[in-house]
Amino acid sequence: MATSSAESFFIATPIFYVNDVPHIGHAYTEVAADALSRWMRQSGIDTWFLTGTDEHGQKIMRTALANGVTPKQWADRLVEQSWKPLLSTLNLANDDFIRTTEERHESAVKKFLTLLHDKGFIYQGEYEGFYCVGCEEYKPAPDLIEGTDEFVGQKVCQIHGRPVEVLKEENYFFKMSDFQQKLLDLYQDQPDFIQPASVRNEIIAFVNRGLDDLSISRSNIDWGIEVPFDDKHVTYVWFEALLNYITATGWGSDEENFARRWPAIQLVGKDIARFHAVIWPAMLMAAGLAPPKKVFAHGWLLVGGEKMSKSKLTGIAPSDITDVFGADAFRYYFLRAITFGSDGSFSWEDLSARYEAELANGLGNLASRVIAMVNRYRDGVIPDGQPGSGPAEEALHALMAQAVPAADKAMHSFAPHEALASLWRIVEAMNGYLTEQEPWVLAKDEASADRLDAVLSMACDALRCLAITLSPFMPEATEKLWVGLGAEGSLQDQHIPDAGKAWGLEPGTAVGELAPLFPRIEQEA
Ligand code: MSP
Repeated sequence: MATSSAESFFIATPIFYVNDVPHIGHAYTEVAADALSRWMRQSGIDTWFLTGTDEHGQKIMRTALANGVTPKQWADRLVEQSWKPLLSTLNLANDDFIRTTEERHESAVKKFLTLLHDKGFIYQGEYEGFYCVGCEEYKPAPDLIEGTDEFVGQKVCQIHGRPVEVLKEENYFFKMSDFQQKLLDLYQDQPDFIQPASVRNEIIAFVNRGLDDLSISRSNIDWGIEVPFDDKHVTYVWFEALLNYITATGWGSDEENFARRWPAIQLVGKDIARFHAVIWPAMLMAAGLAPPKKVFAHGWLLVGGEKMSKSKLTGIAPSDITDVFGADAFRYYFLRAITFGSDGSFSWEDLSARYEAELANGLGNLASRVIAMVNRYRDGVIPDGQPGSGPAEEALHALMAQAVPAADKAMHSFAPHEALASLWRIVEAMNGYLTEQEPWVLAKDEASADRLDAVLSMACDALRCLAITLSPFMPEATEKLWVGLGAEGSLQDQHIPDAGKAWGLEPGTAVGELAPLFPRIEQEA
């Protein structure tokens, strides 16, 4: 569907390092981007969801060498065996997957470097300082701390706790210092450019302290994209990786598509917000391109109070969770239980408790009861509810009419947790409604036939609304529900903004069998 750029939504996740396999921290970014993009797409907005892998740099080169293969062989193995399978593990509907070793990326990166060089934003100089391979980042001395244990007496990176390397080499530099004021103006003119506010304040304080020029090439490694005007250098991995957002959407090769998609919303973990909110817009401004639409930084998943990471052995594989609870529950849990933008603790107990209470006993049980009653009392056909409906149905419809726009507003504000909370008011209200209306009592009295029609039809209508609006979060369970309701058309084609309108199911529709939405989990001893 071609729409104007004002109505377009291009969301990108960071591209993931392939030195290791995915953990639930990576999966968290992916499911958030997926739910947001599914929501926008189902709202009729021209949507594009991009994700991918970051394959160059020293970290990957070393991992490959330690495993006795070339960096490209290593990257291919990890992408095919771990990163691409993550897409189906989490049920992601991404539109593109970019690998930085692809030709489309490499050639556009070279074009970009040539452009900035020609414009006078790149110069040669000498870099003398520290480099952390874990961060793939040049480190100013004040950012280092004293090492402990085996590294006592050495300066180490605050994040990785490992010694930094001392570099002294000829490098090319990007004149980032030229962009200090322009960046501050951007942050001021577009107050929601960086969210949440805590990250925005941190970035503004950082830029206010002044910006150094950025070293953008390395001359002593060869696993990277060659600098087009000097073949002794490869491009610094972050400078190169950030460009994926435009190389994947056609910059330098398909300008029409690029104009249709760009600028992107950058969804990132807060640890890499600075790259996306400072370096990245400065690079784009230097090239004469628009900065991203927004940089939204989500928090960290904490396990046992610490940022979950493989290196600290707290890493949990997404499939450890999806194998037991399924992809829908994974998606629901992380988007519901954690305020998007803040840190959140993961625990198996919390996940399991929410699965039971909110999914299996809440939504799942509700759906199976309603469809069972239509089968039992109305031979599996949804009756016409309007003639017998009254104030209770009006109230439930009013709630639907209010909860859907509230959820929509929350999604547009990057608050999936609030959107789910809004929609769950419908689940709760429906449970209360059935308890009060007692359709099983109405069924015993022929004189209440109109009321029973109204209650069953109302309940199916509310399930219809839930199937549509929850489908971006739980595509599998809602598809089962949609089929169970016997509803017309494909679920993915249902327009979310209309989902709260009353009486959206045709009377006379035959309901089907409802496959269990959230099966009981066999608890391990
Ligand atoms: N390759 C770079 C990004 C380049 S983008 C041009 C990178 N990759 S990463 O694989 O290390 O991390 C990718 C994302 O995972 C980051 O947004 C990071 O914040 C996120 N997470 C890593 N651990 C995390 C948690 N424990 N919790 C939440 N997100 C976490 O950085």
